[in-house]
Amino acid sequence: IPTGDALVQAILDLKKEKNAVILAHYYQPGPIQDIADFLGDSLQLARQAKETDADMIAFCGVHFMAEAAKILNPTKKVVLPDTLAGCSLADGCSAEGLNKMREQHPNALIATYINCNAETKAASDIIVTSSNAEQIIEALPKDRPIIFAPDKNLGRYLSKKTGRDMILWDGSCIVHEAFSMERIAKQLADHPGSKMIAHPESEEAVLELAHFIGSTSALLNYVEKDDCQQFIVATEEGILHEMRKRAPHKELIPALVFDESCNCSECFYMKRNTLEKLYLCMKYELPEIIIEEELRLKALKPIEEMLELSK
Ligand code: 13P
Ligand code: SF4
Repeated sequence: IPTGDALVQAILDLKKEKNAVILAHYYQPGPIQDIADFLGDSLQLARQAKETDADMIAFCGVHFMAEAAKILNPTKKVVLPDTLAGCSLADGCSAEGLNKMREQHPNALIATYINCNAETKAASDIIVTSSNAEQIIEALPKDRPIIFAPDKNLGRYLSKKTGRDMILWDGSCIVHEAFSMERIAKQLADHPGSKMIAHPESEEAVLELAHFIGSTSALLNYVEKDDCQQFIVATEEGILHEMRKRAPHKELIPALVFDESCNCSECFYMKRNTLEKLYLCMKYELPEIIIEEELRLKALKPIEEMLELSK
């Protein structure tokens, strides 16, 4: 495997040779974000994957994101640097579990966060991402109860925002759950004039301290446009790479987590991807996302509902 600049050049050469596009999430390691053709949140990446005319999508994010790309654009080859790039939310929510909840609440609509696998999507009525969830929940028929899965923190936040009662799946993100309300309150007190911004996967007590709550792309826009010069950022630390580019003169302080020996909030799933693995997956076109067509069509339906409602 080449190293340094030669590795970057080799990836660019493979991209040309294979007519590939590199899509990356804001939580990816900096060097991957820098080489990507398109950087975005889950919704933006899904849209980009649907629209691309490249022959191969090298998806630098976690497995459920690459899988969504394949569901949306099945004729393209979708590869990802590391198949073990999972997600605690996706891993903790099965289609069987959702089906059981449906049996218990037969009149309910199942709204599921995009952070789930294809089988779970197929068992859902509609998919949401953190950037369109509020709009979608508002649009659901008022006479039907809502089951929201798998993120109970996002679900609780949405229920509060929209006033809709929700039956919540008991799942959470191991990264956002680690933020400490007490330590963040102290950070705010130590930095008078700063603002705290948080992803809605964070726990209720952390969200209550936030001046702004939003998806990764919404957090980036907020920091760029708001007059404040100092932000305490409660989301995965990979976002700081793009935030620093967009707001180079602002001070960005990572929010503290419970573990006092560690001031970082890394998603170790996202960080499984490296430039070396990106090179290898493009060169050997492996690991590749393969989905059986019947399942793909079932999973596509609630994703299309989402894209339709969040135009
Ligand atoms: P976004 O859709 O806001 O980018 O969130 C994805 C994610 O995995 C957050 O942990
Ligand atoms: Fe999943 Fe949390 Fe990692 Fe996002 S940050 S991919 S929700 S584990």
